[in-house]
Amino acid sequence: MLGLGEKHITALPINTDGRLREDALVEALQKSPSQPTIVILQAGDLNIGAFDDFAKLIPIAKKHGAWVHVDGAFGLWCAASPRLRHLLTGADAADSWTTDGHKWLNVPYDCGYAFVADPEAHRASLSHHASYLTHAKEARDQMDWNPEWSRRGRGFATYAALRQLGRLGVADLIERTCDHAHALVTRIGSLEGAEVVWEPQINQGLVRFHDPGQDSRQGSSAADSDAFTDRVIAEILSSGEAFFTGTTWHGRRAMRVSVCNWQTSPQDVDRVVACVDRILRATREKK
Ligand SMILES: Cc1ncc(COP(=O)(O)O)c(C=O)c1O
Repeated sequence: MLGLGEKHITALPINTDGRLREDALVEALQKSPSQPTIVILQAGDLNIGAFDDFAKLIPIAKKHGAWVHVDGAFGLWCAASPRLRHLLTGADAADSWTTDGHKWLNVPYDCGYAFVADPEAHRASLSHHASYLTHAKEARDQMDWNPEWSRRGRGFATYAALRQLGRLGVADLIERTCDHAHALVTRIGSLEGAEVVWEPQINQGLVRFHDPGQDSRQGSSAADSDAFTDRVIAEILSSGEAFFTGTTWHGRRAMRVSVCNWQTSPQDVDRVVACVDRILRATREKK
């Protein structure tokens, strides 16, 4: 939308824990010291819910004159939980954050929020006027703060959800779904033929399934287990019990376990674990 162009985007390497490497950031910033730069950090990546080390990385970016943006589509909500908010330590020094309501807050699909520390920069980048419109200087006009002129009252759904849940309700929603994700990953991962690839620290983790005929843990083909993992995912989907998607993590296929629905219950977790168990047993019996 901004038209920055793909060639102006530099993807930086991450550690095995999914966090941006400090040395890689320093090196990238030193390469073009005079260019305007936006450093995009992550709060809750989509595979493992990784959080960059904001306290370390933001001061480095600032020292090099960069604007720091935090993609907190999921992870910014962790600030609502006393148990999890340490993951965001230092993120308050960023220039901007984004997060989604349509994920963890469970409000309609197009609810998203941008927070910009410098209101003048925010307004100047999005506001434009036309002679046929009316503008009141003293009123806060939505047209000055977002890319759309015409839009539904998305703020209403967000406001209603926050009022209904309250501070404790939001914290409970976040912590409860994290607990369900943790139970799903560890319990599915302990089934015969399954493996925990990433134990969730928030509401996302990864598991992988080993082809009973070609068990990669015994030295045979990892590619077979990649294909088997996708097959198990497809079978779970066709069972109708749960919805999971696959992903590639460090070159290997895995099943993403991500829980954000307010209705998910411990009974749902039991049902899903039983469903995966049934699918794995049936495959072993067929061999
Ligand atoms: C980490 C992260 N960033 C950004 C997005 C995209 O967000 P949006 O739905 O607001 O376009 C997603 C959606 O899955 C996400 O997980």
